[in-house]
Amino acid sequence: MIDKYIEMSMTMDNNSHGSNKKCFYFDDYVLLCGNSVDRDNHAISKINVMKELKEKGVNVVRLLEYKRVGNRDYELQERAPGSELYDYHAYNSIAGQKQYLSRLKEISMQDDSFYDKFISDWDNILTTGLDVDPSKCNNFFFSNNQIYFIDLNRMGASYEQRNEYKYMEMAVVLRGGGLPWMCEKVTDEALSIIPIIYQKIGLSIIRMNGDIDTYIMQVDPNDRYGLRDFFVNKKVR
Ligand SMILES: Nc1ncnc2c1ncn2[C@@H]1O[C@H](COP(=O)(O)OP(=O)(O)OP(=O)(O)O)[C@@H](O)[C@H]1O
Ligand SMILES: [Mg+2]
Repeated sequence: MIDKYIEMSMTMDNNSHGSNKKCFYFDDYVLLCGNSVDRDNHAISKINVMKELKEKGVNVVRLLEYKRVGNRDYELQERAPGSELYDYHAYNSIAGQKQYLSRLKEISMQDDSFYDKFISDWDNILTTGLDVDPSKCNNFFFSNNQIYFIDLNRMGASYEQRNEYKYMEMAVVLRGGGLPWMCEKVTDEALSIIPIIYQKIGLSIIRMNGDIDTYIMQVDPNDRYGLRDFFVNKKVR
């Protein structure tokens, strides 16, 4: 099946792109083209892992087929529903700021189940040996009040390391990204919404972990650039 899509992509412009891969949209599928770190063996196990995750109800898109042509790697994946959580490419336009703010509000108004599912899906992904890449918010899609995870790759660091920082990363993703991103677009209005998101994800973390290992957040809402907002791994008794 992948050959047909590779051929169609030859006469198309890509619909989206990341730092490495070009992405071509078809109705229910996407074709990604780039130099992937996923060589054949890994891609084959990834096909199985993604299938298992999906069957478990985790919001991932399946990798369906993989093919290397010359020095190019192609991946046929299910197309993620909805749109990128935050539009990475439009960050410094006025329209981009408006879009950012409206999505931020939407996230801040989600109920407990949204936050709980986001955390448990992320956890489930890490336990398979695949990793979430929190460095860009376009690795997350938003549809029907849920987050979908794309761009999952084999874990580069140890599970312990990745596990240690996950809550901070989740909070950063939901607020719209890391520091450079924040400097550009964080308005006073956004600053008033971000603590609500921190609060909700913090409560969700506590809900999910019980009182044995409880995580609390320390957030300074007046810290404009988010330099001091962080999640700490602390027991509260
Ligand atoms: N399954 C998918 N469904 C819908 N859109 C997708 C899908 N996979 C990729 N895309 C689009 O293509 C973009 C690039 O894909 P991806 O993140 O996998 O590539 P990348 O180059 O590794 O990205 P990065 O910049 O994170 O390194 C995504 O941000 C998204 O907009
Ligand atoms: Mg990506």
